[in-house]
Amino acid sequence: MSVDTRVNWGGVALRNPVLTASGTFGYGMEFAPFFDLTRIGGIVAKSLTLEPRIGHPPARIAEVPSGMLNAIGLENVGVDAFLNEKLPALPEGVTVVASVFGTDIESYAEVCKRLAGSRVAALEVNASCPHVKSGGMEFGQNPRVLAELVRATRQAASVPVAIKLSPNVTDIAELARVCEGEGADALSLINTLQVLDVDLKTRRPRLRNTLGGLSGPAILPLALRMVWQASRAVRIPVCGIGGIQSGEDAAKFLLCGATAVQVGTANYTNPRAALDVAEGLEAFAESQGVTRLTDLIGGLETEPA
Ligand SMILES: Cc1cc2nc3c(=O)[nH]c(=O)nc-3n(C[C@H](O)[C@H](O)[C@H](O)COP(=O)(O)O)c2cc1C
Repeated sequence: MSVDTRVNWGGVALRNPVLTASGTFGYGMEFAPFFDLTRIGGIVAKSLTLEPRIGHPPARIAEVPSGMLNAIGLENVGVDAFLNEKLPALPEGVTVVASVFGTDIESYAEVCKRLAGSRVAALEVNASCPHVKSGGMEFGQNPRVLAELVRATRQAASVPVAIKLSPNVTDIAELARVCEGEGADALSLINTLQVLDVDLKTRRPRLRNTLGGLSGPAILPLALRMVWQASRAVRIPVCGIGGIQSGEDAAKFLLCGATAVQVGTANYTNPRAALDVAEGLEAFAESQGVTRLTDLIGGLETEPA
């Protein structure tokens, strides 16, 4: 039996539903020695700003049970170097999603404009960044600011736009509806959870930035809950992210309503993780007699048997 693995994520045709998560897979070519990048659904590159950024000083990552903390501070080469150096290096058959980030609405929109006309298949707008005018509150935490961000990036983009939501909110369904209402083509969730850990020897935070983001297997059930709530609230497709390490993990996200998934922290321990997840998902479907992966989407049974 062969499984039809194709999905459509907001107008982006993917050969299978497994992408790599922004910030955990460089600009793609770093992982080319490990597997053929055309065998996964696509890659989401590191979030890009107008100008290059060096990010926060170390310590910027720390290990915790079942996950990691990071406060990289969005180090990136800048949108122009991405277009001139990183994107051309990727083989043609690789589906590339560019991640966009800014400190105000105008700079997000300008990055989207510069990416217009390039070969990127879609833009993912990283809404988990502090909004300078809101005194450090994340764009994705304020429905009014989020609406403005979606409108501006949608208008500036020439390809489908996915909004990547912050999990540091009370009502994810409300924010998902705001994105849909303003014309977003798709959603991605979740980004990292805001956390703090302490070094008892020094009595200082483990990360130089004090606060960081938690990712990895620890956040999987929380991500499933949010994907389930968001996907029930909107009709646009959702990409599920959070702690995915295996095809079975990915299948759980599809059952909770995700159309696609992204693999993040797992790339640090297994550089072939995304391919393993894609192959594992197909094998899982085959073992269940499922002929199309789309048949799994939203299949979670919540009524008593
Ligand atoms: C070191 C590191 C850097 C990250 N950088 C970004 C980034 O630049 N843009 C973004 O949208 N998400 C970024 N993320 C968040 C991931 O894309 C993903 O949403 C999150 O880690 C949850 O997935 P995971 O548990 O599979 O890692 C980063 C995560 C990590 C661990």
